[in-house]
Amino acid sequence: MAKKVRASVPAKVILFGEHFVVYGKRALATAINQRLAVEVSDREEDGYHVKIENIPTFGLELDLEGGARRAYPYKDYGSATKAVAYVKESIAYLEERYGLNRGGVEIEIKSEIPLSAGLGSSAATCVATIAALKEYFGLSGDLEAIRNDAHHVELTVQGAASPIDTAISTYGGYVLIERNEVKRLPLAGLDLIVGCIGSIPLNMGTKKASEIGLKTKRVVEEVKKRKENFNAIFDYIFDAADEITAQAIKAIEAKDFVNLGALMYINHGLLDAIGVVPGRLSELVKVSQALGALGAKVTGAGGLNEMGGVGSVIVLPNESGARIKTALDIAGALVMDVKTGEGGLKLETDF
Ligand code: PMV
Repeated sequence: MAKKVRASVPAKVILFGEHFVVYGKRALATAINQRLAVEVSDREEDGYHVKIENIPTFGLELDLEGGARRAYPYKDYGSATKAVAYVKESIAYLEERYGLNRGGVEIEIKSEIPLSAGLGSSAATCVATIAALKEYFGLSGDLEAIRNDAHHVELTVQGAASPIDTAISTYGGYVLIERNEVKRLPLAGLDLIVGCIGSIPLNMGTKKASEIGLKTKRVVEEVKKRKENFNAIFDYIFDAADEITAQAIKAIEAKDFVNLGALMYINHGLLDAIGVVPGRLSELVKVSQALGALGAKVTGAGGLNEMGGVGSVIVLPNESGARIKTALDIAGALVMDVKTGEGGLKLETDF
């Protein structure tokens, strides 16, 4: 049994096909170079002890000076209850499934992945916790088994979860998802900008604000309702989205960034058509486009105006990337430079 184990895994972005993938269409997702690590080591007292060093998340910061009331996103390293739910369930699952014989175990989490931003922080927590504990207890490190275990845990905690996030956290690189099947693709890395709107508007009630943790579920339900109303039209939109993913893969293979960017704008337009682009995310895409970005789109679930317009966008920058980042920052987003195609699970022992 190893004395000390560290498992580190990447965050994800969906490049093309989110929402449409729920209806069996193709989607392309990739790992990015923001990572989460779980360290497991011996502890003198019996039982598990969890320490969360830093989980970047969002909150509200108010500037009341001179009557100006503006909300800014901020990084809050304290609120980690959500992550703890995934750690607890991972332990419970492993104990039941593999009959772990525990003594004292120390678990420490260190993360660069913002919470509730559509970047896969929940899946990353599950994959890294499970991989680290399995290694620590001398269980098989088979990647497909780890992915499967982590997907199970995500399903138990959330009630519903697509296999995308756990696959990306485990394997890294790129994955194509088609009818719930996950296929790894050997594509080259891209430099992107991610912009996250995390601050909640001042006029939003606390009940609504507390529902934001379940945003993906709610947005998927809204799409379903709209689809039922416009079924024949949505069939065309969904087929177009499927074709966009196929052509985007070819554009990445050919390093054709002009066409890749254009496909991002088209995909964004379709996401707008199905109702998942709130004003604040629309603004981020428009401002990037105005500054000459090759492409920009909402990534992941998107958002709803009535849920504060929180969510994330990805931008394929041109040479004016620095100006785009400043503009996104001014528009209230948390801005990150990321590289796609990042490696998957990394395990170290007795480091
Ligand atoms: O924002 P996220 O990472 O929760 O992405 C949701 C992606 C959807 O396609 C909208 C839902 C799904 O389960 O695939």
